[in-house]
Amino acid sequence: PLSLTIAIDGPAGAGKGTLARRLADYYHLPHLDTGLTYRALAQMLLAKGWPLGDEPHAVEAARLVDLSNLDRSVLSAHAVGEAASKVAVIPEVRRILVEKQRTFAVQPGGAVLDGRDIGTVVCPDAAVKLYVTASAEVRARRRLAEIEANDGTGDFAAILADINRRDERDMGRADSPLKPAADAHLLDTSQMSIEAAFLAAKAIVDDVLAKKDEA
Ligand code: C5P
Repeated sequence: PLSLTIAIDGPAGAGKGTLARRLADYYHLPHLDTGLTYRALAQMLLAKGWPLGDEPHAVEAARLVDLSNLDRSVLSAHAVGEAASKVAVIPEVRRILVEKQRTFAVQPGGAVLDGRDIGTVVCPDAAVKLYVTASAEVRARRRLAEIEANDGTGDFAAILADINRRDERDMGRADSPLKPAADAHLLDTSQMSIEAAFLAAKAIVDDVLAKKDEA
């Protein structure tokens, strides 16, 4: 039987979540959006009014994060993502959440995980590693389109500034910064539709599976 772990990393808004869901669906694998674990922790701190930089409280909340109870609809708010990237710099918080993420990753049939440090830290032995990027401008334009599709209004310059700030925080932190694993396949989706990105990723995965078969 097929056992396949797919690790997907990339900056906010590059389309890795959509890609991860499509691949998980196609290869019949369970999927974990690890960003939700950081978001769940941030949400707990926000709800209790605890400061995000307060390490003992953040660590306590990290222990309470329950992988089987991550509600995207509650956690998708922009403010929660911002707060998540602030608590994600605390090494002890990362240690606790990475341990939980690994328990998900070791399922017998494999799994798809997406985040910032999956190929480098959480699943360094993953059979397939994808690093999904798009230019900051393209990511900001997509985000604006998403807001407008939900009947909201947004300011392109403000969204772009947000994206650049988040990139800086995620790529600049000392513990597990966002960067491609040495053996990651780079996928720049700036000029790609969702479908094209899926087909490109699928081609990479199928290639790895074919080589596994030969071995
Ligand atoms: O991907 P998402 O925007 O939901 O992630 C929210 C924040 O959580 C990221 O900006 C990042 O700081 C943090 N994160 C992380 N490591 C992961 C997933 C998310 O540090 N594996």
